[in-house]
Amino acid sequence: MADKSKIKTVGLLCSGGDSSGMNSAIRAIVRTGIINNLKMVGIKKGYAGLLKSKFVDMDVSSVGNIIQRGGTILQTSRCPEFLKPEGRKLAFDNLKKNNIDALIVIGGDGSFNGANLFNLETGMPVVGIPGTIDNDISGTEYTIGFDTAVSNAVEAVDKIRDTASSHERTFIVEVMGRSSQAIAIHVGVCTGAENVIFPTETKIPYQEIADNIQRGIKRGKNSSILIAAEGYKSGISYDIQTTLKEMFHIDSHVCILGHLQRGGSPTPKDRFVASEMGYLAVKALMNGEFPTATVVLNGKVQLTPLKNCLTKSNEYRPDLIELAKALSI
Ligand code: F6P
Repeated sequence: MADKSKIKTVGLLCSGGDSSGMNSAIRAIVRTGIINNLKMVGIKKGYAGLLKSKFVDMDVSSVGNIIQRGGTILQTSRCPEFLKPEGRKLAFDNLKKNNIDALIVIGGDGSFNGANLFNLETGMPVVGIPGTIDNDISGTEYTIGFDTAVSNAVEAVDKIRDTASSHERTFIVEVMGRSSQAIAIHVGVCTGAENVIFPTETKIPYQEIADNIQRGIKRGKNSSILIAAEGYKSGISYDIQTTLKEMFHIDSHVCILGHLQRGGSPTPKDRFVASEMGYLAVKALMNGEFPTATVVLNGKVQLTPLKNCLTKSNEYRPDLIELAKALSI
C-alpha cells in the first residue's frame, strides 16, 4: 500500500489514438473524485499538454452531456518527448508546480509504458485505464473503444455487402488494429466474411484466399468479402488486390475503412465499462493502490498492478481465429 493521505488533487489525461468511451471514463473520474472531495484537473492533449502545463480545472458540469460523445473532450496526442527521461522530469515538475498529486492516464500500451516509467522515476501515483480500439493490451480482456470500432466497421461492411452481391463482386475490406487481430476477427465473424486474413511481412496466404473465393463461386455465392487486418502496413489491401489478379485472375475492389472506425457515439458496452473503470481508478488512488490499471478479467472490471499491462499482445484468442475460419466456408 502506498501513502494515500497526500492525494488531494488528481490530474487526468488521454493519450494515443482517441477511442469512443474516453469521455464516459473522464465523466466517471471527475464525478467520483468530486464526490470524494478531491480536486480534479484535466490535462489537454495528453502527455504533450502535460509538458506544456495545459491544465484545466474540472467541475461536475464540465463533464455534463459527454457520456454519449465519441473522441475525447480533453483531446489527445502521441508524444515522443515523454519517451525520454528529460520529458518525464519536466512533466513531474509541471505537476508539482500545480499541486497535482496523482495522475490517471487513459490510453494504449505505449501510454501505459510511459505512465509506468513516470511512476518508477518520480514516485508519482498513477493509474492506467485501457483506452484503444485495438484491444491489444496484455492483462485485460477489453479496452475501451473496441466495441464501438467493431460496430462501426460491421455497419460499413454490411453496406459493402449490398453492393458486392448486387454486382457479384469481391471486396477486400481493410480494418484498423495495427498488429492486433482483434478487430478483424470480430468484424469477419459478424459480417459472415468469406476470408479473414492477418498479413505479416513474411506471409500472406494467397492460395488459401483464392481457394476460398473460388469455392464460394462454385457453391453459387454471388459475392465475396475478405476482411484484412491492416497488420504491419496500412494499405496492404492494394498489394493483395494486385496479387490476386496476377496470380489467380481474380478481380476485386478495395475499401480501407480507416478512421471512420474510431469515432462516433460509444456503444452502451463502451460507456458502461468506461464508467466502471473511471470510478475504480479514483477509488484505487484513494485507497493507495498504485501503480495500477483497471482491467476486465473474467468479464469483471477490476484493478491489477500496472506492470501486468505493459506489453502489447498481438495474438488474439486463437479459438476465435478457428471460429472465423470455420464459419467462412
Ligand atoms: O491504435 C489505434 C489506431 O487506430 C490503430 O488501429 C491504427 O493503426 C492507428 O491508431 C492509426 O493512427 P493515427 O490515427 O495516428 O493515424
